[in-house]
Amino acid sequence: MARASSPQRRPCSFCADAPRSRARYGERGATLFAAQDAAIDASYAQLAATALGIGSCWVGAFDEARVARLLGLKAGVRPVAILTLGHAAEHRERPPRRPVEALVHAEAH
Ligand SMILES: Cc1cc2nc3c(=O)[nH]c(=O)nc-3n(C[C@H](O)[C@H](O)[C@H](O)COP(=O)(O)O)c2cc1C
Repeated sequence: MARASSPQRRPCSFCADAPRSRARYGERGATLFAAQDAAIDASYAQLAATALGIGSCWVGAFDEARVARLLGLKAGVRPVAILTLGHAAEHRERPPRRPVEALVHAEAH
């Protein structure tokens, strides 16, 4: 994880380190586990922020090459997610969610 110097004002970026995962787990590590690791990190960070009363937004739509350049990432390391963090100006009602039955499949999809 690349952590910004001022969490109040700056987003946090979560990166997949394919070379490191490849060294330990081979090709599946490089092509899958590295991204899963970064997504897990971002998810838990978002949960921790929420528990601390800090608002966040998961951002996946960004210019990957530009972010990698800004963060000075080495070859093979990809930014997967950015979390914007801050104190929410307003608190909304919980938005509607798909029902559990639409998400959980027994035996087959
Ligand atoms: C994988 C993923 C990528 C996302 N990328 C963006 C993004 O680039 N920009 C953005 O505004 N919201 C993005 N979102 C959506 C927000 O993080 C958030 O989930 C959305 O605003 C819905 O929030 P709500 O369910 O609390 O209304 C993304 C969500 C996911 C799961």
